[in-house]
Formats: sequence, C-alpha cells, structure tokens
Amino acid sequence: MTPFRFDDLRQHSDLLRVRSGAQVSVRFVEPSDAGGLQDYFRSLTVRSRYNRFLGATNALPPSLLQDFIRVGEADRFSVVVTMAVNGHETIVGEARYALDFDGDLASIEFGMSIDDRWQRHGIGTALLKNLECRAASLGAELVFGDTLRTNDAMITPARRSGYAFSATPGDWKLVRFRKHIQVEPQDIPCASGRLAASRGVQPPLAA
Ligand SMILES: CC(C)(COP(=O)(O)OP(=O)(O)OC[C@H]1O[C@@H](n2cnc3c(N)ncnc32)[C@H](O)[C@@H]1OP(=O)(O)O)[C@@H](O)C(=O)NCCC(=O)NCCS
Repeated sequence: MTPFRFDDLRQHSDLLRVRSGAQVSVRFVEPSDAGGLQDYFRSLTVRSRYNRFLGATNALPPSLLQDFIRVGEADRFSVVVTMAVNGHETIVGEARYALDFDGDLASIEFGMSIDDRWQRHGIGTALLKNLECRAASLGAELVFGDTLRTNDAMITPARRSGYAFSATPGDWKLVRFRKHIQVEPQDIPCASGRLAASRGVQPPLAA
C-alpha cells in the first residue's frame, strides 16, 4: 500500500506544542530531506544512535536512507520533527513506523529519536502521542516498540504515556512497550490522521 502521493505529503503535517512551550512540526520525510536526515543521524551522540538502532552505527547505510525517504513503501513511513532554529527549518527528531498484521489485528511498530540538544523538552512524549494518532489513521489498534532494558529515556515517557511492558521475544536485552488504541476516524486528534481517515486510507485486508 502506498497511500500518500509525494506531492501531497505536506498536508499530513502536524504542529505540536511541547512541554517546554516550543512549537514543533511533525511531517513525512521528503526525498529532499535525505542529506538533512543523514546529517541529523550523524549529529546524534554515540549513545543515542546506539539506543535508536540497537547497535553501533555512525550513519544510515545508503540503502536504509533510501528506505527512509520512500514514505508508504512496503507499509513503512518516516516522519521528521522540525523546528525553526535561527529562522531555518531544522530536523530535531525522527520516527519510522511500520504497519503490520497479525490475523485481524493491525499494529504499528516504531522507533524514534530526538536530537540530544533537544531531549528532555517533552518532544519525545509529544511525538509518541502523534505516532498513536498516525497509527489510528492507518486503522491500527496496537502500537509497540522495542528498546534496551537500560534505556530509561524511552521507558519513562512510554510508561507515563500508558504503555505496558513485556519481554521482547528472542532478545533478553530488550523490552517491548505496547499500547492498545481505539479511536474512531472522526475523533482522531491530529490533522494528519483526520485527513488520511477522511480520504478513506485504510489498511489492506489481512491475507
Ligand atoms: C527516547 C527519546 C526519544 C526521548 O525523547 P525526549 O524528547 O527526551 O523525551 P521527553 O522529553 O518527553 O522525556 C520524558 C521523560 O523521559 C525521562 N528521560 C528522558 N531522557 C532521559 C535520560 N537521558 N535518562 C533518564 N530519563 C530520561 C525523563 O523522566 C523525562 O521526563 P523529565 O524530563 O520530566 O524528567 C530520546 O531520549 C532519544 O532520542 N534517545 C535516543 C534514541 C532512543 O533511545 N530511542 C528509543 C528507542 S527506539
């Protein structure tokens, strides 16, 4: 399923006011973001990159970078969090999520990061909420992610946001956080989600 046209991507953007009072935008990654996104990942601390990708890496391999900018391909979506810094739109965070089906249950699995300089401003918590909204617009009823058991920076906002925790199948170093969501299309609390839902963007029938 590729529900979004590239020339249409900006319509699925959300403006979020975060705890610190700052306003950030969450929008789908565009092909022209490739360089900025790579610079963003390179600028993360070693620790943040390790936590994000669950292993050591300096940058996104070219093939993965290409995957990041192909929004909707193979039911995978990437968003960037941007804010105006010195008058320039600057990437301060990102998330990638994938729609999957287990029988009748549609779920979204995601990973995310926030620029180290902007962590602990409430942006991660706001992004988490926005991802739930985007998940609802795709018809998902479950949102989940895996993170290192030691990663308090992800575990705390997830716990505060109502996620439940369990062991990640097959990897004792990880913990899975998950949350069931049930939102009617008209009640989806973000502009991007209401737009997608009103256009009838629906997940394909499970095989
Ligand atoms: C996880 C992450 C996205 C959280 O983003 P954030 O914008 O800092 O999150 P918030 O500001 O909403 O933080 C919420 C709470 O998490 C906890 N927290 C955040 N960073 C923390 C840290 N480094 N150590 C311990 N607790 C931390 C705090 O309790 C914080 O609330 P407080 O500031 O009121 O004390 C960010 O730390 C990050 O990008 N980490 C690297 C990548 C990663 O770990 N991704 C998750 C796996 S996919």
